Amino acid sequence: MESAQDWHSARALLEWQVDLGVTEAICDAPVNRYELVAKQPKPATVKPTGPAVMPGRVAEVEVDYVALAKQAAAGASDLVGLHTALKDFDGCELKKGARNTVFADGNPAARVMVIGEAPGRDEDIAGKPFVGRAGQLLDRMFAAINMGRDAPLSKDAIYITNVMPWRPPQNREPTPQEMAMMVPFVERHVQLVAPEVIILMGNTPCQAVLGKRGITRMRGGWATHWGKPMLPMFHPAYLLRNPAAKRDAWADLLALQSKLRAFI
Ligand code: URA
Repeated sequence: MESAQDWHSARALLEWQVDLGVTEAICDAPVNRYELVAKQPKPATVKPTGPAVMPGRVAEVEVDYVALAKQAAAGASDLVGLHTALKDFDGCELKKGARNTVFADGNPAARVMVIGEAPGRDEDIAGKPFVGRAGQLLDRMFAAINMGRDAPLSKDAIYITNVMPWRPPQNREPTPQEMAMMVPFVERHVQLVAPEVIILMGNTPCQAVLGKRGITRMRGGWATHWGKPMLPMFHPAYLLRNPAAKRDAWADLLALQSKLRAFI
């Protein structure tokens, strides 16, 4: 019997497909999957001992997508080029299920660059990062220190991107392999924007950029990476679920503000 958990997962997957625009099944005829399972040959129990590739067959080459990502990112000489390189990158399966490649928003001349996790449903539809509820909280947080993505002056401006430009199904966390492919793009993004300070919003960017997680411990503590000061902070989605943690987020925003003042 199906468990309630399976039922909810199946429903969430179906909703995700509907979000992506799926409107109909495309098989000519219904497939009875129970019959297929019954007809499936039993797996062989003997391990092959011969060569992996039959003579005369072409060996399947494993593609090193991290190396390809490094090459593509290094070839981008400006933000338009980097956006194009990401849109053209075919190493990540998540791209196939996404409506948009969510690249960035805000002022590229900003002093502060925010790196989030990945687009959710709203961002996937809009093609912009942090536009849903978490994004609205993020805007209010920065407005509290007189900064924002629409600020025309670089001193007041923030620039926002994500580790992952494509929405993962059911908003799951990107896998380590998916993140590894995106890190070269994120690093090039940081080089091209050249912010003074970087905010890592939540565990995913901490894992991708600093190689460690544990946001409750790491938040509020400055790190230096890629030659830039980086401040891990609680993700606004976490703050929506845990309003008591807003106090810590406020302390981190004040720490950011005094860091920026110290730079001038
Ligand atoms: N959460 C993120 O980390 N990024 C977004 O763009 C939206 C929600």
